Amino acid sequence: MTAIDSEAGTEGDRREHLLAKLADLDEQHAKAVAGGGEKYVARHHERGKLLPRERIELLIDEGSAFLELSPLAGWGSDFTVGASVVTGIGVVEGVECMITANDPTVKGGASNPWTLRKTFRAAQIAEENGLPSISLVESAGADLPTQKEIFIPGGKVFRDLTRASARRQPTIALVFGNATAGGAYVPGLSDYTVMVKEQAKVFLAGPPLVKMATGEDTDDETLGGAEMHARTSGLADYLAEDERDAIRIGRRIVARLNWRKASPEPTAYAEPAYDPDTLLDLIPADLKEPFDPREVIARIVDGPSAGNEVAFDEFKPLYGASLVTGWARLHGRPIGILANAQGVLFSEEAQKATQFIQLANSSDTPLLFLHNTTGYMVGAEYEQGGIIKHGAAMINAVSNSTVPHLSVLIGASYGAGNYGMNGRAYDPRFLFTWPNAKSAVMGPAQLAGVLSIVSRAAAEAKGKPFDEEADAGMRAFVEQMVEEQSLPYVLSGMLYDDGVIDPRDTRTVLGICLSVIDTAPVAGTDRFGVFRM
Ligand code: COA
Repeated sequence: MTAIDSEAGTEGDRREHLLAKLADLDEQHAKAVAGGGEKYVARHHERGKLLPRERIELLIDEGSAFLELSPLAGWGSDFTVGASVVTGIGVVEGVECMITANDPTVKGGASNPWTLRKTFRAAQIAEENGLPSISLVESAGADLPTQKEIFIPGGKVFRDLTRASARRQPTIALVFGNATAGGAYVPGLSDYTVMVKEQAKVFLAGPPLVKMATGEDTDDETLGGAEMHARTSGLADYLAEDERDAIRIGRRIVARLNWRKASPEPTAYAEPAYDPDTLLDLIPADLKEPFDPREVIARIVDGPSAGNEVAFDEFKPLYGASLVTGWARLHGRPIGILANAQGVLFSEEAQKATQFIQLANSSDTPLLFLHNTTGYMVGAEYEQGGIIKHGAAMINAVSNSTVPHLSVLIGASYGAGNYGMNGRAYDPRFLFTWPNAKSAVMGPAQLAGVLSIVSRAAAEAKGKPFDEEADAGMRAFVEQMVEEQSLPYVLSGMLYDDGVIDPRDTRTVLGICLSVIDTAPVAGTDRFGVFRM
């Protein structure tokens, strides 16, 4: 099945190219891990406190993986990469939980517009997959200079917490420090609240504001200390001696949730027939160069084993060859895969995808979309052949399908192809990007070319001479700008994906996602919009 050997000479370059991109990705991730920087990290440690990632490390089961989400949130903005909060899925006492941890080393853990978007995304994932959530709280509340962008939408954080509780998705708050004003409603609206002695400060207004408002002289401990809340107000359910004790209590709370997942246990499985490491030899440096997605699939899905004799059962292999569809298992769980092959989606591919999505719904099978498309085919022949209605049918099927969807951008994701292949706006449960991927309304050169043709036609219509030199300058400028805007960090920074991942980790990441998805029931639908024939 593998074609790597037949392309001798290219694999070394491809690997080198991707390794360079991965080294750069490591550098970007390091910015998020560095939080507020050395000075604030040292100060935090000197205060005897743990960093958010240290708290998470102690909270999750020993040796288990933490699937961090949106680590590059805020990339390219004025705010620290990571947006002063760490979010992700971790296993606590055997239960997959959504964990949200403020980073108090970044502006006191204050929430800026990107923090909010990242927190909303985490809440959405918890909701769709039915996960319990654990908030590790220590925040200066709203980022005051950007309050106008966060105050009104920020109310959703508290609304989401109480709605989660109403859905019987437990919410747990471990309070390590400041949780004032609006922040006080995180413990206030959680099912379970743990506060750390002499550290937690939970009040609607601190001593200076109380003095201003009512003239009362008071102090932090009397207003909102852990002891007071545990013994007097009753807001704290548990008083923790220190941070480690709070984490221990948090784990005990999860242990007593009587938590059960909706879906059956996965079957036994074999590792892929081909080593995922060789994915690095497969992906061309130039996105225009096509690559066979079957090679990618063979390195992601379970290898053949008893009960799974064929790793990938391709569906309709002779029809619509530019889109590969088929069935496989991943970490012992069934999955239907749609993967672009030659880049362009024609009518046949759109129809094949529509049928395949309906089949997955009729068998309650989650779907994985592997994007490498330049969009739907244009031109008179294709318009006359009904490319719009066929593309629309595919978008209809993707939009109304109710089985869980996963998307990975493994190459290009341009134009309506991004929509048909279940881009961000189509609410896949999870969406990850490889560092070589690009996404935009169209390719940079095409976009600049279209602008040039339009302005040439406009000049002609007005009878004005066309400035060729200015046009060449414009095209170069636009091409460069779109090129930069199409890059994964920019898109990840804007929360258009859940993270940029190493291609070699794809199987592990998707395996975690499929397990998380199994927390809630998987149920397909037979209700789609009107399919235009
Ligand atoms: N918005 C924006 N920046 C904030 C902030 C906020 N809400 N709270 C703190 N910061 C900034 C500080 O100005 C400081 O910046 P600098 O180091 O560049 O000068 C940095 O974050 C660290 O703050 P600092 O006060 O030194 O940290 P601390 O750990 O000693 O104290 C708090 C943390 C949260 C107790 C304290 O910063 C505080 O009371 N902040 C205001 C809380 C508040 O009233 N928020 C509004 C709620 S809606």
